[in-house]
Amino acid sequence: MIKSKYHVLICSGGKLRGDKKGMCHTRDAEKLVKKLVEELEDRDLSSEIIVNTTSCYGICDKGPVMVVYPDGVWYGNLDAEKIQTIVDEHLENGKVVEDLKI
Ligand code: FES
Repeated sequence: MIKSKYHVLICSGGKLRGDKKGMCHTRDAEKLVKKLVEELEDRDLSSEIIVNTTSCYGICDKGPVMVVYPDGVWYGNLDAEKIQTIVDEHLENGKVVEDLKI
């Protein structure tokens, strides 16, 4: 059985039936996924935290959007700085970043 500390789902803006063209894609979500993965690798957290991209959650005005499980915490309006804060506080130290929740 795979045991992870967190499972992070981040919208990359794809639609279920079509090309990537959602708001999160337009707002560079794929660069944020790369940033997130690099931050986790730099901190040697890759084996504890699973990252997957998703298609549109239907809340594009809050994009880019990510969800952290098992906590069920949604973060939105993400940029590189916010990703770093979420890694620092939530993913590395278990403290939800209340100011970035949606
Ligand atoms: S494209 Fe990400 S929530 Fe819609």
